[in-house]
Amino acid sequence: MTRQRERASIVSLRISVIGTGYLGATHAACMAELGFEVLGLDIDAAKVEALSRGELPFFEPGLPELLIKHVDSGRLRFTTSYEEVGAWADVHFIGVGTPQKPGETAADLRFVDAAVTSLARHITRDALIVGKSTVPVGTAARLKDLLATTRTEAQAAGQLPGEVELAWNPEFLREGYAVQDTLSPDRLVVGVESDHAEGLLRQVYAKSLAEDTPWIRTDFATAELVKVAANAFLATKISFINAFSEITEQVGGDIGTLADAIGHDPRIGRKFLNAGVGFGGGCLPKDIRALQARVSELGLDRTTRFLAEMDDINLRRRDRVVDLAVQVLSHSLHGPSSAASPRTAGADGAGSVPSPAAVEILHGAKVAMLGVTFKPNSDDVRDSPALDVANRLYTAGADVAAYDPQGNANAAQRFPRLGYVDSLEKALVGADLVILLTEWDEFKTMDPDYVGRLVDRKNLIDGRNILDPQTWQDAGFTTAALGHRFR
Ligand code: UDX
Repeated sequence: MTRQRERASIVSLRISVIGTGYLGATHAACMAELGFEVLGLDIDAAKVEALSRGELPFFEPGLPELLIKHVDSGRLRFTTSYEEVGAWADVHFIGVGTPQKPGETAADLRFVDAAVTSLARHITRDALIVGKSTVPVGTAARLKDLLATTRTEAQAAGQLPGEVELAWNPEFLREGYAVQDTLSPDRLVVGVESDHAEGLLRQVYAKSLAEDTPWIRTDFATAELVKVAANAFLATKISFINAFSEITEQVGGDIGTLADAIGHDPRIGRKFLNAGVGFGGGCLPKDIRALQARVSELGLDRTTRFLAEMDDINLRRRDRVVDLAVQVLSHSLHGPSSAASPRTAGADGAGSVPSPAAVEILHGAKVAMLGVTFKPNSDDVRDSPALDVANRLYTAGADVAAYDPQGNANAAQRFPRLGYVDSLEKALVGADLVILLTEWDEFKTMDPDYVGRLVDRKNLIDGRNILDPQTWQDAGFTTAALGHRFR
């Protein structure tokens, strides 16, 4: 062990976090909350300036308070300089994005590669680089080689002291609960190749270890796979119940009761069995697609073929909301016997589009769209089912008034032509149809009589199964919900 290594093990570690997006900013603030000195790095100077002023560029409950607290105390700082972090930190966490490649299903690893290369060129002391980003299996092994060759080249070009090692430590945080999930994780998975690397990570996570959080030491490949396996399983659970929704929509039955009943079996469990418009966000959809792409590269296409089905089931839920909108409006305008066929299917049922009759019904209909984010307590609209449905209805000619407590601004960047309003009331006034697709508390607690007074026609689609249909029917509404037969 070099003298620097000994020093690192006896004084508090200095931590850098590369990438200050959703994952990185949360991790940096939480590391400061745990008592470490933290330096967050981002290549976006505007973001660094905002964070340095204590301003968070996205919505996450509890995080602004932590950011301000630790920026004020001086324990949390931000920089754009790799030189600065390379000379300063003992442990460098990488929290940059691994988005879906444009037009492909595979993950785009450009940002992870750039972070490792830049660190390799600028670290001037013993250090551990810890990947947190979600990556395809095999990436850490490749990055280890990239680190070694880049460092050898950089060292040949000039003086660059220090030994640098790589570890992989996947993140399982949920948006909306990111602070809680980072400070009190339900497990810690560390892919390491030495006791030294594990020892440093044990120091970082000493508080969680003292609270008996399960600690899983493993190799790189397992650490990478744990993350994608967890997300694939969660996506499968959601699509599983949504597949049964397609059945109960045909034959009747109550999808919520079905989920409760199977969920009582502890081997199954009730969590993530909420039927509705399905999953979205920056993780689940892209992770199951990236996994399929990676497995295909490995020549194992059949192994994860089921995930393509899960993706399909998920996307079909969006079609279903559009179809229900047509059916409910048609029923409201022309009475129960007017069964406009909502969809013109492609040859295999895939790629179907609203039929001409459906487009005619949607044209000019005023739709109050409640929610545009992919889930509540977030302003994230990436791959949001709600926003996708809003856009499809708009494209079919509906007059959409979308309202989300936090997501309007992000949604407007993606789909600027949709109509956005800044209150629930404004969305509801004059509506022919109310569609709830994100289960914010503000929507859960809506009073049907209040809503009834604002809308033109009392039509409601509950895309998250959070409202009691009987209460709304008693207030004069025609209701439809995913996983339930509409008659
Ligand atoms: C997910 C994982 O939960 C987290 O562990 C990982 O680190 C990142 O990806 P997140 O994207 O924040 O977290 O969202 P999550 O709470 O998992 O919800 C994902 C989507 O599934 C949302 O659109 C949500 O509305 C939907 N969902 C969830 C359902 O449709 N039904 C359910 O029962 C649960």
